[in-house]
Amino acid sequence: MVTTSEQKRIPQHVAIIMDGNGRWAEMRGKERCEGHAAGVEAVRTTLGAALRRGVKYLTLYAFSTENWGRPAEEVDALMELFCRCVAGETPELRAQGVRIRMIGDRTRFSEGVQRALADAERATADCDRLTLVLALNYSSRDEIVRAVRALAGRAARGELAPASLDERTLAAALDTAAYPDPDLVIRTSGECRLSNFLLWQSSYAELLFTPVLWPDFSEEEFDRALEEYARRDRRFGLVR
Ligand code: IPE
Ligand code: IPE
Ligand code: MG
Repeated sequence: MVTTSEQKRIPQHVAIIMDGNGRWAEMRGKERCEGHAAGVEAVRTTLGAALRRGVKYLTLYAFSTENWGRPAEEVDALMELFCRCVAGETPELRAQGVRIRMIGDRTRFSEGVQRALADAERATADCDRLTLVLALNYSSRDEIVRAVRALAGRAARGELAPASLDERTLAAALDTAAYPDPDLVIRTSGECRLSNFLLWQSSYAELLFTPVLWPDFSEEEFDRALEEYARRDRRFGLVR
């Protein structure tokens, strides 16, 4: 349980690298896709916990630009799962006050997936209890390249003086422009790397790695992560 004194230290924005679905399935003699399906339940659990704890932004890394390189069968199953979940869960999310947003390059998705995402974003646009940001066909390097390309276009058209470009200009050109930087980044499955996730935005995030595989991630695990976060001393390069 998160105690009252720790309530003050609830992270405003939690970002999660949901990893380990494949291993969870393989350990049970199941297909990898069954691990992804099981991961959806962990998303529901985590979202419920985040709502109860007062987290305002929850970003979930669901599909990286590198994940297209997986077997077609797995990619197809994931696309189908995204469509089904986003469409199926939207009414409930709306009722809970959850605004659905997406980061990543959506132009590579099929029309069906793009429509499902746009519909969910539109249907929940006025919800303000928690913003659920889905990172789909996302990678930081791709996001930064797309942002720099857009800024270079503005500079070439004479709309932006190169000397005026600063951290704020670049941050405002990223997919995450409308959201605060993550306070806490959690990665499940025991891997201690960021795998191209929110590299710019996580400059001063607290990082937490847990061996738990994503489908096993529970409300207790989420609370443990928040307790650990509450114990951290964030200095942002300053002295106390
Ligand atoms: C994370 O689980 C989900 C996606 C990347 C889509 P993985 O599928 O990477 O699971 P492992 O790492 O192989 O166990
Ligand atoms: C990161 O997991 C991407 C997502 C969780 C969507 P991966 O399983 O793709 O990353 P690596 O290959 O272990 O670095
Ligand atoms: Mg993985």
